[in-house]
Order: sequence, then structure tokens, then C-alpha cells
Amino acid sequence: IFGEGRTNARGWDITDAGELAGIDAARAPHRTARFTAGPIVEGREYTGDGQEIVNPADPADIVGTVVEADASTIEAALAAAKPWDAAPFERAATLRRAANLYEENFGLFFALAAREAGKTLLDSVGELREAVDFLRYYASRIELLDQPALGTFACISPWNFPLAIFTGQLSAALAAGNAVIAKPAEQTPLIAAAAVRLLLEAGVPGSALQLLPGRGETVGAALTSDARVDGVCFTGGTDTAQIINRSMAAYLAPSAPLIAETGGLNAMIVDSTALPEQAVRDILASAFQSAGQRCSALRCLYVQEDIAESLLKMLKGAMQCLQMGAPWELATDIGPVIDAEAQAMIDAHVAKAAEEGRLVYRLRAPSGGRFCGPAVIRVDGIEDLGREIFGPVLHVATFKAAQLNKVIDRINATGYGLTFGLHTRIDDRVQSVVDRVTAGNLYVNRNQIGAVVGSQPFGGEGLSGTGPKAGGPDYLPKFTAVPASETET
Ligand code: NAD
Ligand code: ALA
Repeated sequence: IFGEGRTNARGWDITDAGELAGIDAARAPHRTARFTAGPIVEGREYTGDGQEIVNPADPADIVGTVVEADASTIEAALAAAKPWDAAPFERAATLRRAANLYEENFGLFFALAAREAGKTLLDSVGELREAVDFLRYYASRIELLDQPALGTFACISPWNFPLAIFTGQLSAALAAGNAVIAKPAEQTPLIAAAAVRLLLEAGVPGSALQLLPGRGETVGAALTSDARVDGVCFTGGTDTAQIINRSMAAYLAPSAPLIAETGGLNAMIVDSTALPEQAVRDILASAFQSAGQRCSALRCLYVQEDIAESLLKMLKGAMQCLQMGAPWELATDIGPVIDAEAQAMIDAHVAKAAEEGRLVYRLRAPSGGRFCGPAVIRVDGIEDLGREIFGPVLHVATFKAAQLNKVIDRINATGYGLTFGLHTRIDDRVQSVVDRVTAGNLYVNRNQIGAVVGSQPFGGEGLSGTGPKAGGPDYLPKFTAVPASETET
């Protein structure tokens, strides 16, 4: 609905045998290839003996190596960074060329999404489509905006959308004419480097887009404490955003914006009028797709007590049909979690619940990789979670009809406000619940993941982010020197 003259990427239909054959042929050369990543400064790529990046589904599969940025490449990138001195329509045309290059390189991206980030083919298709949509969406928006750039943006991104969010951040900052220094997550530098090479090939100047792979505590911290940085775009954990905010307050100009998209304690309410088959399908997708590694994922399900037992029985049956395994395989519904640290944290959380007699059900995970069996844990309420468990773990609580408003107040009281789901067939209830919930993205009678650029701007409130929402009309003005309130939306 936003972004005139633009359509969303068509993507790939993985139920079509012809398209699947094309995907298999395109990604086959990358199945055993070794990739590299290193700092890319003014178009020059720094290579050398790097650290190995391994496939989370198969740690014996070395996907490639990364040379992390050091003090000298960080300094070189900061010194070289120059805003993109081209008319908005030229920047837009370049970003559209990059979008086309991304689409042409689908085999490379699907292979890297699977091997480096553990993404199933379904998730890889979504990942690439979203990245392409961001490029075209911000290209179309900048043609309507034409405000001066702010300067140099540090774009710091997470591993769970290593192409889509990485590209979304930098394409917004670039569309607005800023210089970007991109710091990808330490787990996923290879796909980020592949993307930057294509953006440079499309015509983005080397002084306007530079890549600094490396650790958050070193490279990220250096960028967010250097006064040559005029703004920070960050997606990741809430705790990290708070560290960055403090660093910016100490070292950056007071006017430097922090655009932060962070974590969530996302809930769904299913009342006794909901269609159980539909609710179960949407719970499965919301809680377990992408192995639960989405900020939008469902963490705490509230089921009206009259239907709780039958719904949980259906849910267990549906979970038993989920196929866990290597993300490259088409039959796989759920791949690995990102690394050994994440696996240990999730397994410890489930083990504690089991000790306390609260584990309702858990699927057995395959061995050999960083697999975590999807689990259902009983809780009294959302406050029992304490923090975001970033994996395939669904917490379930029950409520009585008369307690509905109280349940919503408890969800709001967590301080997070990212996504929220509701399953009901009572029309009046939809409006009253939507009016009461404080969350950025609300979904009724559907799953609560997979916001679509341009039609469902995505972002949270409170501890879940500063706004404005990504993929929406208010986003670009934040990357310009003109306050959002004075710009057209
Ligand atoms: P993270 O916070 O650990 O890391 C995110 C990025 O910040 C990485 O590039 C990391 O290297 C960097 N970083 C870490 N410490 C830093 C520091 N001191 N200074 C500067 N940079 C630093 O998050 P993650 O584990 O990569 O991603 C998962 C988290 O991201 C989850 O909490 C999830 O909810 C959140 N997330 C939010 C959204 C959203 O749109 N709201 C989308 C995706 C992920
Ligand atoms: N935009 C992603 C989703 O909606 C995080 O799932």
C-alpha cells in the first residue's frame, strides 16, 4: 500500500517442480564452496588467514573464513566514509540495479543462508525476497523525499536475518545519501560480504558503503563511540541496544539518532471461539518456524482454559509431523539454531522446566548439529519467562474468559511490545483487544511472523525498539538531516 510504482518481489514458488529444479541447479555449485569475507574499505577487500565459519547443521562443513576488522581497517573506513553525492533518482536507480543483481544471484544466497545461517529453503526465499523488497521500497520512497543526508551511519545487524535486515538497514541509509559502515553479526559475515560486493557492482561508491566484519564488543563498540559517526541503525538484543545508547550518549553528537529494533516477549491469545485447526497451524508457524529465531516469534501462548487441553493435544500431534534436519533438504521444516552457545542456552532453559515438572512436550532433535527440539512449557503467565528465549520454545498459560483484560495488562507490563497475535471469532473482541494491547505489529486469526515490506511496516514499542518501523513510510526521514515531523509520509 505504500511505495508508489513498486511491487513486492515475486520470489520463488518452492511447490513448483520446475522452479525447484532451477533452485537446485543454481545453488549446487555453492554446496561445498568455501567463501571469504573481510573488511571492504573504499572498494578494497582485505583478505588473509581468517577465522572459520561453520555450518550450524553440520560443524564439519566449513563454509568459509572471515578476516575481522582491526584498529587500522576501522580507522581506514571511518576516514574514507563520504556521503553518496548523487541525485536521489540516481541513488534509487543504483539500488534497483542491486535488487536485480540480488535476484540473479539467488543460488548463491540460498546456499549461504542454508550453510552459514541454518535457514530452510522456505526461510531463504523469504529472506531474499525481503532484502529485494527493502532495496526497491527505499528506492521508491527516496524519490518522494529528497532531503539532505545526515552523514555517516553505522549499521549494526543480527545473524537471524543476515541478508534481509543487513540490506534493509544499509539500503535505507544509502537511499537517503548517507555513507554506511556496515557491521554484520559475527556469525554471518559471508552472506553480508556477498551482498556488499553486489551493491558495489551495482554502482554504490566504495566511500559510501564499507564493510567491517567483527565482534560487537570490539568493532561495533568502536563505531558507536566515534564522533565521526552521525547516526546508528541497530537491530539485535535489547541489552545491546542499551549499551549502544550509553556509548552514543558519551561519544556521539547529541543529535545523532539511534534507530533500534530489538527483542520481544511476544504473546498470542486464543479464545474458546477460535478455529482450533487454524490456531494450531498459526501457533506452529509463529513459535517454531525459523527454529523460533525471529524477533517476531510467539513466546507465550494464552489459551482459554475451556479449550486448553484439546488444543494442546492437537498441537502435540502437529508438532510430531515437523521434520527437523539439514536446512538444505527440502523436507526440512526446522533447521538448527545458530551456534553452540544458543543451543546450550535453550537446552538449559528446557531442562530447568523439565526439572520443575513444567515441560509439556519436546520433539527429539537430530544429533550432529546445533539442533534444539521444539518444546512446549507450561507457565502461569508471561512474567515467568523473564527474558526472550531465542529459540523453538513455546510457553503456554491458560486464562478464564473474565480475565482477558488482565492477561493483556500482564503482557503489556513486560515492557516489550513487538508482535501480538489473537485468535477469536468474536468481532467486538478484536477491536477491544487491539485497542488495549501495546505492540508494534498485531495479527488477528493468522500467524504473527513474516511482516511484508511496504504493506506491514515492522517495529516495536517500549523495550522492543525506538521506531520508526522498517519498511514503512516513516523510516527514511530518520536517516536525513530533517526531523521526521517536517517531512512528508
Ligand atoms: P545481538 O544484540 O547479540 O547482536 C546484534 C549486533 O550487535 C551484532 O552485529 C553484534 O556484533 C552487535 N553488538 C554486540 N555487542 C555490541 C556492542 N557492545 N556495541 C556495538 N555492537 C554490538 O543480537 P543477535 O543475537 O545478533 O540477534 C538476536 C536478537 O536480535 C534478538 O534479541 C532478536 O529479538 C533481535 N532482533 C530484533 C529484530 C527487530 O526487528 N525488532 C529483528 C531481528 C532480531
Ligand atoms: N520482519 C520479521 C518478521 O516479521 C522479523 O518475522
